[in-house]
Amino acid sequence: MKNLKTPLFTPLLALLGLLSAPGAAAQIGSSGFCSGVANSTGNPSEITGFGSTVVSQNDVTLSVTSLPQNSLGYFIVGPDPGATFNPGGSTGTLCISGAIGRYAGNVLNTGTSGAVSFSVDLTALPSPTGNVAVLPTEDWVFQFWHRDTTPTGPTSNFSPGLIIDFAPLVPTFSDDIWPILAQSNINAPACITCHGSGGFGGLNMGFTPTMGYAALVNAQSSSPGCGGSTYVVPGDLGASLLYDKLSNATPSCGSQMPLNGALAGDINLIRDWILGGAPF
Ligand code: HEC
Repeated sequence: MKNLKTPLFTPLLALLGLLSAPGAAAQIGSSGFCSGVANSTGNPSEITGFGSTVVSQNDVTLSVTSLPQNSLGYFIVGPDPGATFNPGGSTGTLCISGAIGRYAGNVLNTGTSGAVSFSVDLTALPSPTGNVAVLPTEDWVFQFWHRDTTPTGPTSNFSPGLIIDFAPLVPTFSDDIWPILAQSNINAPACITCHGSGGFGGLNMGFTPTMGYAALVNAQSSSPGCGGSTYVVPGDLGASLLYDKLSNATPSCGSQMPLNGALAGDINLIRDWILGGAPF
């Protein structure tokens, strides 16, 4: 269920505040993988997720509509999608497999609107073995299980399933990347020792995160060898000279960095930072 667009752009948009702007709650998750069965309204219900897939924001609301009126039910959640037809004599389809947790302490009434809305606490999803916290990059499947009545008597039914792919954790320049550039490397001094001011290759990252960020993100090299290349293009690893110079033994210009040594920090943090939109 990996959607290539989501991990790259959701965190970026969320950081810019575009997804969580009040009044314009962003829709999250997808419900196409397991449809609902018509309930006593004559139609299947519909489930929608709102909020953010960035786990640390803890902002996920589930909404279900087209439910029978004045009916009781609660949400269930699990790690994997599934499709079990008519479980336990219900008229619907259970869209979750694996260990299923129940929000049994949060029974909701569909009221006269035939709708429910529920705010999920990502730090404590129910599971058969106790509460669990959502981690970045995990997928979770949510579904609403409710009472219903058919001509043959009382039964239960389910909303369609909603699967939410939570975003990867995006490193930030000030917390995660600058410390890598400012620390001593293996058999080589810190990047900013050679690229502080009057830097080699014309690259001056200065001595503060703010200076370093300005020198790298969307900034072009003007050196004879690498000139015209951009050091960091947010979201584009292949176009980012910084990543080329760190990850390739034979970069497109000059030598691999740090010169004559090895990087002491984690190159994957730099990769995830660029892919995640290179936030400050
Ligand atoms: C011992 C000094 C030294 C260290 C330490 C060093 N560099 Fe360099 N760097 C150079 C020299 C010399 C050049 C120019 C020649 C070349 O590109 O190979 C250069 C070039 C570069 C360029 C290309 C600049 C341009 O516009 O042409 C980048 C990007 C770069 N270094 C990044 C880094 C990073 C990131 C680190 C730390 C992991 C680092 N360097 C560590 C000496 C150093």
